[in-house]
Amino acid sequence: MLVYARVKIEVCIKHIMRCVMVALGILMVSVKGLYAFDRDTFGIGEPFPPNIYPVEFTSVQVTCVAFDSSGIKTPEKILFVRKDRYARYTFLTADENLYFTNRTEEVDKDGKKIKKLFVTMHIRNVTLEEDSTYGQLGRYECHAFAVGSPLERKHGFSINVISRDELPSISVTEANMLQHGDSIIVFCNITRPSWSSRLKRISWFKNGVVQQSVRYPDQYSPVPLVIKNAAARDGGNYTCVLEVSLRGIRRYKVSDSVMITIAPWFDKPQGDTELNKFKEESVSFQCAAKGFPLNVEWKFQKSGEDNIRSCISGSDAKYRIHRSGIYAPYVLTVNDLQYSDSGSYYCCLPSNCSDDVKNNCQRFVLGVRDDKFRCKLDLGLLVDMTETISSPLKGKGARLVVTATGAKSKHQRGLRGVDDRAYRLSNYTELNDLFDDLAKVICQPVDGGFSDWSPFSDCDVTCGSGVKVRTRTCTNPPRQWKGKDCVGARKESMACNEGPCK
Ligand SMILES: *[C@@H]1O[C@H](CO)[C@@H](O)[C@H](O)[C@H]1NC(C)=O
Ligand SMILES: *[C@@H]1O[C@H](CO)[C@@H](O)[C@H](O)[C@H]1NC(C)=O
Ligand SMILES: *[C@@H]1O[C@H](CO)[C@@H](O)[C@H](O)[C@H]1NC(C)=O
Ligand SMILES: *[C@@H]1O[C@H](CO)[C@@H](O)[C@H](O)[C@H]1NC(C)=O
Ligand SMILES: *[C@@H]1O[C@H](CO)[C@@H](O)[C@H](O)[C@H]1NC(C)=O
Ligand SMILES: *[C@@H]1O[C@H](CO)[C@@H](O)[C@H](O)[C@H]1NC(C)=O
Repeated sequence: MLVYARVKIEVCIKHIMRCVMVALGILMVSVKGLYAFDRDTFGIGEPFPPNIYPVEFTSVQVTCVAFDSSGIKTPEKILFVRKDRYARYTFLTADENLYFTNRTEEVDKDGKKIKKLFVTMHIRNVTLEEDSTYGQLGRYECHAFAVGSPLERKHGFSINVISRDELPSISVTEANMLQHGDSIIVFCNITRPSWSSRLKRISWFKNGVVQQSVRYPDQYSPVPLVIKNAAARDGGNYTCVLEVSLRGIRRYKVSDSVMITIAPWFDKPQGDTELNKFKEESVSFQCAAKGFPLNVEWKFQKSGEDNIRSCISGSDAKYRIHRSGIYAPYVLTVNDLQYSDSGSYYCCLPSNCSDDVKNNCQRFVLGVRDDKFRCKLDLGLLVDMTETISSPLKGKGARLVVTATGAKSKHQRGLRGVDDRAYRLSNYTELNDLFDDLAKVICQPVDGGFSDWSPFSDCDVTCGSGVKVRTRTCTNPPRQWKGKDCVGARKESMACNEGPCK
């Protein structure tokens, strides 16, 4: 008890004014019942935001808050008014350019519940008429009223409208489409400085990422953006941003952009790209076209057909066209390969999906083979014969008796053998199924291995400098069933010189 009292006294000495107020409060509360005395703690806070500098033709909002710090009175309403120089008031009412919103909040303070009323004035499109110094109408005020009380509390504020004429403007040099290897300088010129503002910073962004930035720039020396030896990656949306401080208080940015485009071109290998895949695998072709922005068309010509399927859409399960970024190469992935996917695939620069594959195209030649043809069945039957045997059968409903001649008995169980030596098959599907079944039982995966390199060939010229080559094959052992293919070069070349030409 004693300790508490002492602390209380110390606090009182430190905050004498508050203690006086508290004492006064106690006094007033005690006399309230007798005299219905109104305590003067109802008030209005400073309008927020404190510095209102909207730019002409933008929107602005100001919030006033009223509450009674002793929690006795309940705020009823807040009105916004304008006061001219003769102290005449005009109450602001909602119209198509002006509206009000409000919310209440109840806070607990020292065990008292304090109701706060927030009212926000919104101006949709500020014009110079809303400026506090404009014409007859002048400063703004918020007037707060409490329930059942004649009290009226005021707080003034001003709105300083920054006219459009005050805003600086900049202009970025326009650019035509560049060819790769070109160089260009793009300027960011301040075309109209602002009389009321200070230049803070000029920055160049590329696709939203800052490239360079100059603080406190000089309005007469534009900041150049230099692109040398343009590559696809130099293409993009370049934005120059000028940051100023309007009237030394309001941060403001103006920007202008230029799209730098790089004409598409091919950086492709000399010949076609050949790929061999097995059934049910997938394959990806990476297009060597470059440029910005880049678009390509994918086309397909089935082996042995003239017809070209133009503009593969690339959004189904079979075909997928993708790239890992706006500068990355386009890739076409073909899934679940079948024989019918063998043929030529083309990546072309846009030609409105025409069937022209001669110009501006890169060619990939794909062969699809079946793994089981590479597995020699232990039945005296070469599965490589499948195609020869089955082609005439297709769609004809013919009967075929496959006679096994090898030591087959150990593989017979579980297969549809009709006797010890033969399978009776009635159609192509059944034949295929049989081979699948046989392959599952018999075929072992064997990873492919490289043969030794062949000796180098003769030089391909008889005088001057030329090339000699050597090769190796994936035959030691050959890849079998689902074994892995050989990885590595199958061909190597070496420079040679046959002496001066006569
Ligand atoms: C704002 O008002 C001006 C002048 O009345 C008008 O030209 C402009 O279009 C308006 N802007 C908007 C966003 O309503
Ligand atoms: C608050 O807004 C509502 C809806 O616009 C309105 O009916 C009400 O009178 C407002 N209250 C105050 C205290 O301004
Ligand atoms: C921008 O500034 C550069 C360098 O001073 C000048 O060469 C160019 O003409 C200016 N461009 C414009 C549009 O004013
Ligand atoms: C470039 O970027 C700016 C700023 O991000 C944006 O306003 C503009 O629309 C963009 N231009 C293009 C062509 O994408
Ligand atoms: C594609 O078609 C448009 C409109 O028909 C044409 O202007 C454009 O030149 C064509 N482009 C090509 C590469 O053929
Ligand atoms: C092939 O033969 C099997 C078994 O007799 C039968 O179920 C299947 O429908 C036949 N397929 C065709 C395409 O005739």
